[in-house]
Amino acid sequence: MKVFISGRIAQSGLTLLKENNIEVIQWKESRQITASELIEACKNVDGLVSVGPNKINADFLNACKHLKVIALHSVGFDNVDVAEAKKLNIPIGNTHGVLSGATADTAFLLMLAVSRKAFYLHKKIIKGQWQNYEPTPELGIELNGKTLGVFGLGNIGLEMAKKCIGAYQMNVIYHNRNQNQEAEKEIGAKYVSFEELLANSDVISVHTSLTEETRNKFDNTAFEQMKPKAIFINTARGGIHNEVDLIAALEQKIIWGAGLDVTNPEPMSADNPLLNMESVAVLPHIGSATEETRSAMANLVAKNIIAGLNREALPSEVAN
Ligand code: DGY
Repeated sequence: MKVFISGRIAQSGLTLLKENNIEVIQWKESRQITASELIEACKNVDGLVSVGPNKINADFLNACKHLKVIALHSVGFDNVDVAEAKKLNIPIGNTHGVLSGATADTAFLLMLAVSRKAFYLHKKIIKGQWQNYEPTPELGIELNGKTLGVFGLGNIGLEMAKKCIGAYQMNVIYHNRNQNQEAEKEIGAKYVSFEELLANSDVISVHTSLTEETRNKFDNTAFEQMKPKAIFINTARGGIHNEVDLIAALEQKIIWGAGLDVTNPEPMSADNPLLNMESVAVLPHIGSATEETRSAMANLVAKNIIAGLNREALPSEVAN
């Protein structure tokens, strides 16, 4: 059996595939593979490990109907036409559950960095603009006892909430499509409407999938309902916030700050005004980028491939 891997994954996953006599063909260029190159690369293989935002759309799936399995090196699957894959009987695996802690760490890091203007002040030192100690300018805001609003209380949102409760005794409110009663019991989170989430949160952290329902959910109308001192954090997908509206909300001081690990488009251009704002921190989509988590992701990817090639249920399969 052969698989094509459209990027670089941790060695542990490659080893597991090889131990199971699966031949690996890997995309080794630093640029992203194009749609036509991906179809060509998948012509003579049995499975695909999709790394990065490859478009696994109807065109790709119909050109590669022979694939026995597609394993995503991500928990997000907004790049996949899941219904079409189901129609063609191609199981889609993802890396559910293994990256929650690392991604929540990234959300927490951004929240704290924004609250103390850390990225902006760090850049001032680099530019030689740190002159002397002064008690009043460029002050941050504290998080102790504030309200965290989680948009999407799944595994990652729950981890973020636990960190915020542990570190700052924050009150947790959340908005989901469905109530998460288990999490309510575990951490005392309170379900609220989207409008209540906007009006009552000091920090809003986004942990939901990108779907037609969540695309551009945080736009001008949403930012205007938030507190003037609110911090907006997004480690999920850049398409969930409207970047033009976010820039305007920050410039007009409608909200206080923003921390983004995901942008729209990616990569963010180096002259984006967000990069020079005081209460903004931006990272290049590193949510799950730790040695431990990337290794766990590669292992789960390999297990999904092995199960799929053996026509068994995938350990982590995208539901549809
Ligand atoms: C994920 O796992 O979805 C990460 O955002 C990487 O795409």
